[in-house]
Amino acid sequence: MNASAPVSQTSLASLVLVRRGKVRDVYSVDEEHLLIVATDRISAFDCILPTQISRKGEVLTAISRFWFERLAHLAPHHLVTTEIEHMPDSVRGETAQLRGRSMFVKRTEVFPVECVVRGYLAGSGWKDYQRTGQICGHRLPPRLREAEQLPAPLFTPATKAAEGHDENVSEARMAEIIGAEAARQLRDTSLALYRAAETYARSRGIIIADTKFEFGLDRDGRTLLIDEVLTPDSSRFWPLDQYAPGCGGDVPASFDKQFVRDYLETLDWNKRPPAPPLPPEVAAAVTARYLEAYRLLTGKSLGLSVS
Ligand SMILES: Nc1ncnc2c1ncn2[C@@H]1O[C@H](COP(=O)(O)OP(=O)(O)O)[C@@H](O)[C@H]1O
Ligand SMILES: [Mg+2]
Repeated sequence: MNASAPVSQTSLASLVLVRRGKVRDVYSVDEEHLLIVATDRISAFDCILPTQISRKGEVLTAISRFWFERLAHLAPHHLVTTEIEHMPDSVRGETAQLRGRSMFVKRTEVFPVECVVRGYLAGSGWKDYQRTGQICGHRLPPRLREAEQLPAPLFTPATKAAEGHDENVSEARMAEIIGAEAARQLRDTSLALYRAAETYARSRGIIIADTKFEFGLDRDGRTLLIDEVLTPDSSRFWPLDQYAPGCGGDVPASFDKQFVRDYLETLDWNKRPPAPPLPPEVAAAVTARYLEAYRLLTGKSLGLSVS
């Protein structure tokens, strides 16, 4: 395989595909384990683009791994290994497609709620606030500006919609769905994870404006942090050096998708599928941004392509 050829989708003869998401392909490995493969697909304006971003899957996987390890004292997690050599034989036959971009994880029974935490006023939270002075029922001080840091991070859960957008729910509704004790535990853990991650990332030049966690129960009834964690795909990353709300600064563009959106905005495209392709120089600039996000966060370079 060409060292830098991006992966648009995987197909593994030895494993059963259980889900193809916007970005990740999920396979069943055995009764207790899944393989989550991050491809190089990218979406913008809710459409998957026909152009892939080289190394994106590798960066997403490396960022999740970094956070699982760094935050392990706050939440046990599902990650067993990202090293192909440590995975079962059924996975190791497919090395070329999978290396660097795959997480071998404990299979769980997923809690059907997206645990969203918002530390800054952005996206749908900003829209809510402008309309109601609240975000998902949390009353906020008046005259906050777009992108401003909130007085304290907010937990704003949503139900996982099978299709389309997730629906925000109150904590009371969440407690009806998964039980009061679990709801409390997921909220407290999500807030603790976000606080620790936000403080750390900020010290490294990245603002994590908001994020989404998922949790599941393992076979022993333990609650595990699952899915991807604190990646640019599950979070809103902003470059700290472009952050200045209220000081005449614009709302920072997202760290990773900025060039994609900027380019697409120059086109006469109605933001409905099919999305147009990206020119090679734009795709290359986006790859560089992803690698930069990893380098900033971890202080390490991901190095040359491993595939
Ligand atoms: N440990 C796990 N056990 C069971 N399901 C998991 C686990 N980790 C992640 N998942 C599920 O894998 C799926 C990933 O697919 P999806 O979110 O559609 O992909 P994408 O984010 O690429 O669009 C989610 O439904 C998530 O709940
Ligand atoms: Mg998802």
